[in-house]
Amino acid sequence: LSVLAVASEAFPVVKTGGLADVIGSLPKALMSLGVATRTLIPAYPIVLANCGDKEIVGQMSVFGEDVTLWASHCHELELLLVDCPVLFDRRGGPYLDDQGMDYPDNWRRFALLSAVGARIAAEGVDGWRPDIVHLHDWQAGLTAAYMRAAGVDVPTVITIHNLAFQGQFPASVFPELGLPDYFFHIDGLEYYGDISFLKAGIRLSDAVTTVSPTYSREILTEELGMGMAGVLQSRRSVLSGIVNGIDEDIWNPQTDPHITENYDLETLERRVANRDAVEQFFGLTPGDGAILSVISRLTWQKGIDLLAPVVQGIVDRGARLIVIGEGDPGIVYGLAQQARQHSGRVVVHVGFSEEAAHLLHAGSDIVVQPSRFEPCGLTQLYALRYGAIPIVSRTGGLAETVIDANEAATAAGVATGFQFHPGSIEDLYHAIDRALTAYDNSTAWQQLQTQAMRTNFGWARSAERYACLYRRLARDRRAAVL
Ligand code: ADP
Ligand code: GLC
Repeated sequence: LSVLAVASEAFPVVKTGGLADVIGSLPKALMSLGVATRTLIPAYPIVLANCGDKEIVGQMSVFGEDVTLWASHCHELELLLVDCPVLFDRRGGPYLDDQGMDYPDNWRRFALLSAVGARIAAEGVDGWRPDIVHLHDWQAGLTAAYMRAAGVDVPTVITIHNLAFQGQFPASVFPELGLPDYFFHIDGLEYYGDISFLKAGIRLSDAVTTVSPTYSREILTEELGMGMAGVLQSRRSVLSGIVNGIDEDIWNPQTDPHITENYDLETLERRVANRDAVEQFFGLTPGDGAILSVISRLTWQKGIDLLAPVVQGIVDRGARLIVIGEGDPGIVYGLAQQARQHSGRVVVHVGFSEEAAHLLHAGSDIVVQPSRFEPCGLTQLYALRYGAIPIVSRTGGLAETVIDANEAATAAGVATGFQFHPGSIEDLYHAIDRALTAYDNSTAWQQLQTQAMRTNFGWARSAERYACLYRRLARDRRAAVL
């Protein structure tokens, strides 16, 4: 079975968050199930720099722009690169300019990506044709609309990685998209008088998935539906949740090249070398107190604003806190003030560093992820694999991937972390307090680490679910044609 995935980022060639990790790892897992994926992404400068050999497999004009399509076999991925320098050859990141502002023509950039996706679905590329088209997030959403408009009869799946990002643009851009007028409709792209690329994908795809079963239920509610609950309820019969897996080769403490000392369950004592390296790298005063880390976008979604109020409590318990990430300047400012007050005990590192993220998972005792909502979350999965105990809010994928160390779970020997009520500073502090109490008992802590590291979060089971979904859609389509 052949799948065309359409997305805006893919690890390791371009990454701003978990979407890239999923796009970069799912195809490898699907391969062993007989599903071959080619992944269409924009040819940002960093992508062209990171992909070595490539060949031209198509040239076309889309929205009056010249587009070159490259194929590249790169880091075990079969990439198709949409090269349109006017739209993608920019100095900033995939979505933001170098001042951190959205590119004003993002609608055009990702409409073009989607239009190219639809064209490949219709005509194939290089003699290759997809049996399924898999869209990821709003950036790929319009693919379903362009396919529908052109009568392309290939089944489509859209995966919602984060409902907070909806690709909402003023209705005035609609005429520029080259879609028939009737798509500007409540059952199409129209969204509260504007248009939404994500809504187009949700309404017009054959199946809709999200990245955890819990989140697939939460988004049907007013509270977490983000204005899209009604639209999602209308697709309820084709909506499901498939939890993300992790790339067990890249996130493997036994072989990780970014950490100071490799280790596994049998050699957990070697972890201490990574802990020392973390203290040194981040300039913490060396000591025995637990190291808590946060590796995250520094935003309201991630609940990072809840941290500053608990810093004093962390420090009073003799523990240390490291925060690494980029995001909301107000949140960064609040944390930076705490770091100044508690020099050597609290460190805020503004930036994005893959190496530092790996080292922090290997050398921290605890990883905190206090999200207000979290479709899946990958950081807690990496933490579990590395024996850093996660403290997470009880929401979305966090709720279902971390087992709270309550009395029953502890007695049954299945606990892997600590949960608290999303958005509550008191409950976050209570969870930190519980974790630090457990940390003080080294036997209990090691038990928790062992249970965490034994958790299975590879892709096998979830890839199987995607493969089943693809096969069912392909079969239904064949049956409908007969
Ligand atoms: P989201 O995609 O919503 O940001 P996820 O937990 O799914 O959340 O994925 C976040 C990914 O981004 C993980 O791979 C995490 O390690 C990485 N990440 C987040 N912030 C940083 C950072 N400052 N430096 C390096 N990696 C980061
Ligand atoms: C999004 C979500 C995150 C999820 C990731 C990959 O960025 O915020 O929870 O893990 O996508 O699916």
